Amino acid sequence: MNTLIILGAGQFGKKAAGLLRQEKIHLLAFGDNNSSLWETRLSGIPVMSIEQAVGLEADLALIGVTDHERTNALKSQAEACGFRGRFLLLEELYQFFDIRSATLHFMAKRLEECRTAGAIAELGVYKGDTAWKLNALFPQRTLYLFDTFQGFDTRDISVEESRSFSKAATGDFSDTSEETVLSRLPFPEKAVIRKGFFPDTADGLEKEHFALVSLDADLYAPILAGLEFFYPRLSPGGMILLHDYNNSRFRGAHEAVDSYEARHGGLPLVPLCDLHGSAVIIRPYQL
Ligand SMILES: C[S@@+](CC[C@H](N)C(=O)[O-])C[C@H]1O[C@@H](n2cnc3c(N)ncnc32)[C@H](O)[C@@H]1O
Repeated sequence: MNTLIILGAGQFGKKAAGLLRQEKIHLLAFGDNNSSLWETRLSGIPVMSIEQAVGLEADLALIGVTDHERTNALKSQAEACGFRGRFLLLEELYQFFDIRSATLHFMAKRLEECRTAGAIAELGVYKGDTAWKLNALFPQRTLYLFDTFQGFDTRDISVEESRSFSKAATGDFSDTSEETVLSRLPFPEKAVIRKGFFPDTADGLEKEHFALVSLDADLYAPILAGLEFFYPRLSPGGMILLHDYNNSRFRGAHEAVDSYEARHGGLPLVPLCDLHGSAVIIRPYQL
């Protein structure tokens, strides 16, 4: 059986470990430069310094980050420590394959096949990467786009800080605009921009129904508000693609689901194996 070390024990490295074919690959250790992680375990696997991990003489080293600069830095560090095996680059998987996007494609197919009625929406649009996909997948349907277009709001950040959910800051993701997003959409005439603080921007849409909602606001308060607003308004068979449900960098998403379930009972939720830890929630045909 091949042996492997993962260099980089952050969100992506941990999620990559979950994608391994464990019957064929034996994960020996995570290596990381953050010394506060050394001598801890992630799902039972020890975390150690890069040097110690390389010293295990694994056959393979997966570089568990996705940006090019950090990928190169970790690779060079492992080489300098004497790594002689083969490198696998998560950066390449991330660049060419996208589990979340592929799932979205099949969700859309299913919704069209089942003739699930309703509009499409995204809460948390930023520069419109997911909005573009939603608009392309549903050219005939109204696409509501909810965002401050000025980044995270202080009210939401104060909750993150007081409950230590994330290190997010007011104004993160502010380098965008509704014009930028609209200009890149394939069917901009189907888009309805709802600019401002959610849930205030849902006012007036109480009677609307949704077939598919992408919930990608990162933070506890807007995600909980999003579940409260959208879930009861999903058409039967309708779906929410919830980003970050299993993301250790944005714990508010999981906490928001927990809070919603404590108030209203369990949600039919399926976690995905993408690197961001997304999940799909489906509105049953019969409640
Ligand atoms: C991770 S980004 C979204 C990424 C986007 N879905 C994509 O495909 O690239 C999160 C977005 O949520 C928005 N957001 C967070 N809280 C919000 C709130 N209370 N009201 C409106 N927008 C909010 C931020 O402004 C930010 O643009």
